[in-house]
Amino acid sequence: METESLKVELGDRSYRILIGSELITNAMDHLRPLLNRERVAVVTDANVERHGFLAMLRDCVERENVEFNAKVLPPGETAKSWDCLREVAEWLLSLKTERKDIVLALGGGVVGDLAGFAAGILRRGVRHVQIPTTLMAQVDSSVGGKTGINTSYGKNLIGAFHQPSLVLCDISALDTLPEREFLSGYGEVVKYGLLGNAEFFRWLEINGQSLCKGDRALLAAAVRNSCEMKAEIVAADETELGRRALLNLGHTFCHALEAATEYSERLRHGEGVAVGCCLAFEASHRFGYCSPAAAARVRAHFSKLGMVHRISDIPGELPSADALIELMRQDKKVRGGNIRFVLADGIGQAFVCQNADLDVIRLMLEDELAEKAN
Ligand code: NAD
Ligand code: GLY
Repeated sequence: METESLKVELGDRSYRILIGSELITNAMDHLRPLLNRERVAVVTDANVERHGFLAMLRDCVERENVEFNAKVLPPGETAKSWDCLREVAEWLLSLKTERKDIVLALGGGVVGDLAGFAAGILRRGVRHVQIPTTLMAQVDSSVGGKTGINTSYGKNLIGAFHQPSLVLCDISALDTLPEREFLSGYGEVVKYGLLGNAEFFRWLEINGQSLCKGDRALLAAAVRNSCEMKAEIVAADETELGRRALLNLGHTFCHALEAATEYSERLRHGEGVAVGCCLAFEASHRFGYCSPAAAARVRAHFSKLGMVHRISDIPGELPSADALIELMRQDKKVRGGNIRFVLADGIGQAFVCQNADLDVIRLMLEDELAEKAN
């Protein structure tokens, strides 16, 4: 597979996203020009280590006589915590990591967000490279510089924008992803089509099933399309003053549902995004923005792939519609106490709605929760 190269245009902080196979085994080809001295510090998690990716990276780095230090975290969302942040930051300090050194985030979105944040606040900013190993991280979290941790008040509420110096998307790393994790990442892929590229959504309707069976060429094309869209949006609105908010399609609902399920195995992030996208389109239809057919098409696509996409697909008890709306008040898009939703005029035509009538949202959530109770 040819390695493809995209660029996130951010002036002197611009960086490349490389998409290909064997990028971890050949990582030094791309890291070498960034090294200021002969050492790297790698943050990863135990699953990524167990599947051999840490050893692969270590072999490649040590073959070139570059010092390799690694911190292996427990897998899962709970690592995006104050405790793990302290552990990683103090570990990096114990290594005497300097501003011009490189921290490598090898793993999914959890490792990427945490390691990126630790690098961002260490000595007011150490460079980092994202080596995403989940589909979620390859199409979304590794690009764009949003880093951070969760708190008891909600997800990603403590964080900073800290752009990576390079992103290496090794498609072959996705071979070992459990199906549920793969489909969770696919939720974010679909989001791109829904928010701004109807043609891409149509392409996914045609190719989604083969892609989810692991067709590498289709996967690489989906990662490239997603990263292209994200790179373009981030370049235009790095700190989310405007258009970047569109990338949060489905996320206001998703974050409330993730909080309601306590960031547990009951709901993976991308599953929440799929449920949230369906709710955003259903709400858009109820507000009269998009056709019922568009909302049905979104649900049908997730359903065809056997993905979690309705509130009733989430196991266990859920709070009331009012309680879910209360959880949405912690959303980072809230302005003056107003919850702002990303809605759509149709597939590929998302917009930020400043003043959505919460009674309509409440009724929709009550209908969805009633379906779950039946
Ligand atoms: P994750 O990092 O928890 O990875 C999912 C699981 O897959 C974990 O158990 C992990 O150990 C395992 N894993 C990773 N790579 C593997 C591989 N190649 N083979 C087998 N197992 C592997 O979760 P995720 O879905 O990658 O990311 C979710 C996180 O990303 C959330 O915290 C979310 O908030 C964040 N996120 C951030 C952004 C952003 O812009 N910063 C965007 C989207 C999501
Ligand atoms: N994942 C949303 C963003 O990066 O803006």
